[in-house]
Amino acid sequence: MKRVFGSVVGAAMLLASGTAFAAEAEHPKQLHWPFDGMTGTVDRQAAQRGFQVYKEVCASCHSLHRVAYRQLADIGFSEEEIKAIAAEANVADGPNDAGEMFERPARPSDRFAAPFANQEAARASNNGAYPPDLDLIIKSRHDGANYVYSLLTGYGEAPHDVTLAEGMNYNPYFPGHQIAMPAPLTDDRVTYQDGTAATIDQMARDVVVFMQWAAEPEMEHRKAMGLKVLGFLLVMSVFLYIAKGIVWRDVK
Ligand code: HEC
Repeated sequence: MKRVFGSVVGAAMLLASGTAFAAEAEHPKQLHWPFDGMTGTVDRQAAQRGFQVYKEVCASCHSLHRVAYRQLADIGFSEEEIKAIAAEANVADGPNDAGEMFERPARPSDRFAAPFANQEAARASNNGAYPPDLDLIIKSRHDGANYVYSLLTGYGEAPHDVTLAEGMNYNPYFPGHQIAMPAPLTDDRVTYQDGTAATIDQMARDVVVFMQWAAEPEMEHRKAMGLKVLGFLLVMSVFLYIAKGIVWRDVK
């Protein structure tokens, strides 16, 4: 009897937890990215636009702490442009002769300035949620590029049967369907220099290309190296095959 009771309670608990966690994240939309595959490359125009989106929208909440300003040369920014970009931000430095920390404009060798001094400050301004550092986000999430794209473009009205917690936003691509980040993108949120129309879709694609580059600035080099090694092995195999024929020619 005890057992039966136990399993009934167990089943009830399972059911209850089942409904509580039923809001599994939706499967991300599947896009084709220029960086996909063995010959994948970084689309520099898109990455530069993505940097603009990061700088003008995301950087007020998210850091990108592994990337230094001078690395922007990789995606086609000139030295002058990089100096100007860095100088717009302030970074902490010091201590000075008086033993005090001070702020100064960033230099190309500095890493990207963070929007908050520490995690606590970041949480305090974001309804208790922590805006994660974005430089590895694409690598650290399953199907990262598609996931981040889907998340950025996936905001909408909550269905009637969903009650949002205070300060939360409805997004079916986020586990639990409620996210503390308000929809960051709206049409024409930025003005692109190259005349590309800044739709939500376009900005989301561009910022994903930029974050993918930030996650792995050496990707193109790695892939090019892989192709060279494959080419070398192929040529080598042909030579060895011919050599084998010559060596064994007289043996019947
Ligand atoms: C107003 C502050 C704010 C802005 C602006 C903002 N975010 Fe966020 N973001 C957050 C917060 C807070 C979280 C944590 C959400 C949570 O845990 O509920 C978050 C989470 C995320 C996540 C992680 C989701 C996960 O799986 O954990 C990604 C990716 C992300 N933001 C990308 C971006 C991008 C790209 C931009 C710019 C287009 C951006 N965010 C702009 C506050 C912001």
